[in-house]
Amino acid sequence: MEESIILISQNRSNYGYIQQNDEFDYLKNLIKSVEEGTCMGVLLHGPPGTGKTLLAITLANSFNAHYYIIDGSPDLDRRDIEGYWELFKGETRFNFGPLTRAIEDANKKGISFIIINEVNAIRESEQISLNSLLSENHLNLISKGFERYELNPKSKLVIIGTLNKGVIGINKLQEAFEDRFIASPEIDYPIKPKEIEIATKMSGCDRKLAEIVVDAARQIRKQATKDFSITKIFSTRLVVNFCLVVSSMPPKFLRNNIENIIINKLGENQEEKKSIAMILDGKMFESKLRGVLSPEGNSKVIQEEEIELSETEEQRIITNMKKHVIKYIHFYKQDNALKKNGGIMWKFIDWFWCYNRKTFQDYIFLTKKKGLHELYKKDTGKNYLFRGEITLNYIKWLYRYKKQELMNFMKNDSPIF
Ligand SMILES: Nc1ncnc2c1ncn2[C@@H]1O[C@H](COP(=O)(O)OP(=O)(O)O)[C@@H](O)[C@H]1O
Ligand SMILES: [Mg+2]
Repeated sequence: MEESIILISQNRSNYGYIQQNDEFDYLKNLIKSVEEGTCMGVLLHGPPGTGKTLLAITLANSFNAHYYIIDGSPDLDRRDIEGYWELFKGETRFNFGPLTRAIEDANKKGISFIIINEVNAIRESEQISLNSLLSENHLNLISKGFERYELNPKSKLVIIGTLNKGVIGINKLQEAFEDRFIASPEIDYPIKPKEIEIATKMSGCDRKLAEIVVDAARQIRKQATKDFSITKIFSTRLVVNFCLVVSSMPPKFLRNNIENIIINKLGENQEEKKSIAMILDGKMFESKLRGVLSPEGNSKVIQEEEIELSETEEQRIITNMKKHVIKYIHFYKQDNALKKNGGIMWKFIDWFWCYNRKTFQDYIFLTKKKGLHELYKKDTGKNYLFRGEITLNYIKWLYRYKKQELMNFMKNDSPIF
C-alpha cells in the first residue's frame, strides 16, 4: 500500500468512555490476551446512546491503534467494505475499503480496529464477507475472483460490532456470523451516580445541573417502560447533549432548550409530548435548572480555551497540511484531484475528514484569522468548535457558502497548493 493512504483517525475529546463497572478493563485485557495473527470480534449489545461506539473508539485509542468506522446499512455492498479493483486510464488499481485498509494497517503496525455501528443493519450477504475474516483471518475479495487478502501472523485485527436492542425492521445476525464473535458484553443505562459523573465530565457542566437532568431522564425512562406512553428513550447521549447546550447558552433560552432538545425530540406525537412535559413539571425541572444556571449564561466548569497560535506553530500546520495535499493529489491523480480551475471538490474535504482529520482541523482552525468563524456564528448561531475541535458543520458551511473565501484562504493566506 502506498504511504499516501494511511488513515489517521484519532479521537481528541478530553474524555473517552467512562466505564460503568469494569467493561473497558475487561475488553482491553481480552484483546491483549488473543494470539497474534488473529482477527477477533466483540459484539456490544445495548440500547442507543449508552456509549457503545465511544467504548470501541476508546479501546482503539488505548492501543494507540487506528480505527475504521463502518455505519451498518442495508445499502452497503461487499465492494464498499472490502475495496475493489477498477480500471483507470488503462491500468487496474485497487480502491481500498475499510476492511482492506484495516488489514494493511494491522500488518504494518501490529494492531488495528474496525468498528461497525449497527452491525445488524448490514445485509446477510455482506455479513459473509466478515465471516472468513473472523474465522480464518483473511478476506476473499469478491472483486478479484476471491483473491485472498491476509492478516499477517504477527498482527491483530479487532472487529467491534455494536447492536442497538429494540430497533426493529433490520436484519438479524446470521447465526454463523454471530457465532464468530468471541464476546458479547451488554451495555445498559448506567446507575444514577455514574450517569451524573458521565454527564458532568462529558459536557463540562456543573454537577448540580447534571443531577437535575439525570433525575428527570430516569423518571422519563421509568415511565417509558411502565406504560409505554413514551416511545423514545431518554438516552445518556441526550443527557450529555442537553447538559452541554444548556450550560453553554444564556438561561433565557432554557425553555427553548427544554422544548426542542427534550420534549420535541422524545415525543412522537402531541400526547407523548404532553406526558413528557407533565413529568418534567412534576419534577419542577425548569425552575430547578434556573436555580443552578448562572445569569451570565455559562455554567461550564471547564471553559473551552481559545488557543492563540504562534507564528511558527502556524507555519508547522501549513507545512503539514501541504504534505498531505501532495498525498491527496497523488492518490487521486493530478487531473482528477482538483477542479479544472484549481478549485477543491467535496471529495477533497471528505478525504481529509476521513483520513487526516486532525491535520485538516488544525489547518481550518487558521480561518479564524479571517473572522470566518464569527460569520458562521452569526449565520447559524453555532460555534465553530466543539470541545476544542473544528466541527464538520463549520467546514460544510465554508464549502457551501464561503467557497471564494475558502479558496482565497487555501491559495493566498495560508497557501497549501
Ligand atoms: N459511559 C459513557 N462514557 C462517556 N460518554 C458516554 C457514556 N455513555 C454515553 N455517553 C455519551 O453518549 C454519547 C453517545 O455515545 P455512543 O457511543 O454514540 O452511543 P451508542 O453507540 O451506544 O449509541 C457519547 O458521545 C457521550 O457523550
Ligand atoms: Mg453507536
